[in-house]
Amino acid sequence: MDNRVTTMNKDFELTNGVRIPSVGFGTWQTPDGETAIEAVQCAIRAGYRHIDTAAVYGNEQGVGEGIARSGIAREEIFVTSKVWNTERGYDTTLRAFHRTLADLCLDYLDLYLIHWPATEHRFADWRQINADTWRAMETLYNEGKIRAIGVSNFLPHHLEALLDRATVKPMVNQIEFHPGFMQRECTDFCRANGILVEAWSPLGTGRMLTNETLKGIAARYGKSVARLCIRWALQHGVLPLPKSVTPERIRENLDVFGFEISDTDMQTIDRMAYCGGSGLDPDEIDF
Ligand code: A2P
Repeated sequence: MDNRVTTMNKDFELTNGVRIPSVGFGTWQTPDGETAIEAVQCAIRAGYRHIDTAAVYGNEQGVGEGIARSGIAREEIFVTSKVWNTERGYDTTLRAFHRTLADLCLDYLDLYLIHWPATEHRFADWRQINADTWRAMETLYNEGKIRAIGVSNFLPHHLEALLDRATVKPMVNQIEFHPGFMQRECTDFCRANGILVEAWSPLGTGRMLTNETLKGIAARYGKSVARLCIRWALQHGVLPLPKSVTPERIRENLDVFGFEISDTDMQTIDRMAYCGGSGLDPDEIDF
């Protein structure tokens, strides 16, 4: 499995052979209702075939409606959702999954993720909680209701504990990833274990767009900082999930296959000091 992106390839491959479009459309902070419906329809018209949502975003109904109204066949669109932290455990995860399917008006998901790991600072039995949640994911995967399963915001020590107990290995880990916060230890661990890394907030939730280093590099390519960040993730073999509700930005963010960032510029971006992070540390969050 070689998931380096050239100017041509537009899919990554998961360990079970499922292909996943290499730029996904993010919907975190996209309000439900007409905004979500229109954003998703606009994205699909622009050529996105990968939509990322989560139960906690509160917009699964709008996202599902946007997919339905797009007129594109269901099998051509890769749809991801996530089980929220209050639903951890075996039975609760199964129920949460079926609620998500009903809200999206779908009969299967392409990818389902554990949104955040249970961690030591809140749960003495965090390993067992994650293992129970994972067992539900495996059940749904083995029943054919999900084409691939994974996690989100898992750091290497959370993944190690999960891998010790898992029958099916997670195929994806969706983490915060952008210039100034590339979480190298985590991405290296995932790569070594065949886990595809997806980037949430690939633009640092917009905070990267005014960064002077990035502005200077982007200007030399005649591209926007947004496109530079998305392309940089792809060249690292990381799948970016840019979010926008603005039609021209939605289109712009997919236009990242016609240029290549040089090795020198990749290294300059890689070496940027920490900046623009959300500050959401999986081992410290209180939700
Ligand atoms: P909006 O949704 O109002 O268009 P991230 O993907 O890192 O979470 O960043 C999302 C934020 O960046 C949103 O505020 C979004 O604004 C903004 N954004 C997304 N794409 C672009 C772009 N191409 N140019 C400028 N801002 C963008």
